[in-house]
Amino acid sequence: MAEKILVVDDDLDTLRLVGMMLEGQGYVILAASNGQQALNLARSERPDLIVLDLMMPDIDGVQVARQLRADPQTQDILIVMFTAKTQMEEKLEGFEAGADDYLTKPIQPKELIAHVKAVLRRKTGVHSISELNYSEEGHRIAFISAKGGVGVSTLAINTGIALHGLSKKSVIVTDFRPGCGSIGLELGMTNAQGFNRLFALNPAAISPQMIEKELMTHPSGVKLLLSSPQPGDARYLNSVDHFHAICRQAAYLAHFVIFDLGASLTPVNRKVLKECRQVVLVIEPIGQTVTQSKDLYDLMVELGLSAGNIILALVNRQRAGMQLSLGQVQDQLGLKIGHVFTAAPELAYQAQVSNTPMILRQTDGVVTQQVVSLAQRLLQNSR
Ligand SMILES: Nc1ncnc2c1ncn2[C@@H]1O[C@H](COP(=O)(O)OP(=O)(O)O)[C@@H](O)[C@H]1O
Ligand SMILES: [Mg+2]
Repeated sequence: MAEKILVVDDDLDTLRLVGMMLEGQGYVILAASNGQQALNLARSERPDLIVLDLMMPDIDGVQVARQLRADPQTQDILIVMFTAKTQMEEKLEGFEAGADDYLTKPIQPKELIAHVKAVLRRKTGVHSISELNYSEEGHRIAFISAKGGVGVSTLAINTGIALHGLSKKSVIVTDFRPGCGSIGLELGMTNAQGFNRLFALNPAAISPQMIEKELMTHPSGVKLLLSSPQPGDARYLNSVDHFHAICRQAAYLAHFVIFDLGASLTPVNRKVLKECRQVVLVIEPIGQTVTQSKDLYDLMVELGLSAGNIILALVNRQRAGMQLSLGQVQDQLGLKIGHVFTAAPELAYQAQVSNTPMILRQTDGVVTQQVVSLAQRLLQNSR
């Protein structure tokens, strides 16, 4: 039996156009031009899916979605929000009302149809991943430290670029830190709102296709999934299920997914670490940090990560003499450091002000060789 779709829009041209596009695909179409009409039809007709305009004069899309979700009769109806791109950011919170997907106007018929089909398919349990050829799961690698400011993000992005160059395979680098996203700022790439849009969805609705829409491409060819740098967005840090879903689904989009987890074993990081095949623990050569790093290492092993999959990276940010030596760090840890990074404050500074990662600024420097060596190791271990 053909699925029933209710299209809701106060703009009659859009209503007619969207209705026609979907009708052409064999769906049964119902139409409503305001919120109240939409609610009435949803209750009486029980459509499978609603394409819902956000901005409407009487009851807007967010309110309609809330009311649908609050009513046991209509709570399972799939909702695809439809909105002008410019309204997207400010309406993000509204999506928490429970949209399963969203689309921005103006829309291409192909895009509309693909989304509607994907959302319906998810409901019927037929996975769309294989059709998109995303059937293979990539290799997840976490970068983490015991405390902030030790060079995790810098190492994650530089290693991602090196890994992409070496392997010629697709790499996603993602900062898993909403509200504290720094990779976008470092690279001078704006629009770090991708994550927020995903948080507006139901975790079960997060698909590789939806994550793919939020990826940005760095000039190096590495794909980025950027967290917002707005402190207020740190509210999403408690959305463990969202993070878990993004972590799992993103791996269908690339051969390698690098997670910048920042500092400490937060509830989110616990979940993500368990999904990662390799972990790079970034350590700074300062007594206190080394102690904390050892504790973090032990906790990760307790969590079930095998010691062989945890790579210890010692990042020097200051000249020797102002911090512990490699030997001292290893003695204190009781563990071998796998990779050492030389202090390069000038290069780090230039990289920041020019929005160009260190290894691209100085392609034949010492730090670049050290980053490439880490990338080689990760690549070998992934085979
Ligand atoms: N090898 C290095 N030498 C000198 N400074 C570095 C080096 N690596 C990173 N930095 C600098 O250290 C600071 C913290 O790095 P960042 O990657 O943001 O740390 P985290 O992600 O752990 O908070 C940044 O200013 C960065 O430019
Ligand atoms: Mg960071």
